[in-house]
Amino acid sequence: MMLGSDMRVVVLTGAGISAESGIRTFRANDGVWENHRIEDVATPFAWERDPRLVWRFYQGRRRQLLDVNPNSAHEALVSLESYLDEFLLITQNVDDLHSRAGSEKLIHMHGELRKLRCEMCGEIIDAMDDEHLQDQYVKCVQCTNERLRPHIVWFHEMPLRMDEIYDAVGECDVFIAIGTSGHVYPAAGLLSIAKDTGAHCIGINLDPPENVILFDEFHQGLAGELVPALVTKWMSE
Ligand code: OAD
Repeated sequence: MMLGSDMRVVVLTGAGISAESGIRTFRANDGVWENHRIEDVATPFAWERDPRLVWRFYQGRRRQLLDVNPNSAHEALVSLESYLDEFLLITQNVDDLHSRAGSEKLIHMHGELRKLRCEMCGEIIDAMDDEHLQDQYVKCVQCTNERLRPHIVWFHEMPLRMDEIYDAVGECDVFIAIGTSGHVYPAAGLLSIAKDTGAHCIGINLDPPENVILFDEFHQGLAGELVPALVTKWMSE
């Protein structure tokens, strides 16, 4: 594929792009954490019923961010962004590896582990200091709430900034999905929207995802190897 710098490109990433940085994908380990199904921990009902359990799960994942680094696939997407006039990176990942690599035109549709949110006053804080990463709850600095929640979109909640996402996907020339199993909607449905708008659709994944037949090109393998190689090729053809 020739990629002109005036082409509108949307990239959707999932857990697979961070796997080589050492963050487990959702469906690795059959989606189980300490005998709990991830779906049972990542819901507003779980937070209501057993906030300690949910807090412990997310504090572990938040602390893990201190031990991991962006990999060559995250870095290649930064080069792609700087080459293109119109670009949007949509990630389902809640880690901060895309922004630490240097991506700027970036939407975290499922929220961000780095941040905590007050359900009483709406305050959102970047909370990665030592005091925020302990086992005890973090209090709101703006109101009387004793227990901020992870700024994460849980199952049964609406992903963030969907209007901007639908606008960009509905107008793109090229749509690239990387490291996502295509199981979770609405993210998984973005591919068919791109396809309907006539975009050239490219998939990069270790295993063929659910919706593999919709891709015009599918590259099977490790994101850390394929993404840098393909980005270099697209920018030089
Ligand atoms: P999944 O865990 O469902 O899928 C990850 C995909 O990445 C799988 O298809 C793997 O084959 C692939 N993969 C693994 N390692 C890879 C590598 N090194 N290179 C390339 N591909 C690799 O993760 P997501 O599709 O991101 O939602 O899951 C989507 C959403 O489901 C998540 O955002 C989360 C989850 O429940 C919420 O938290 C709302």
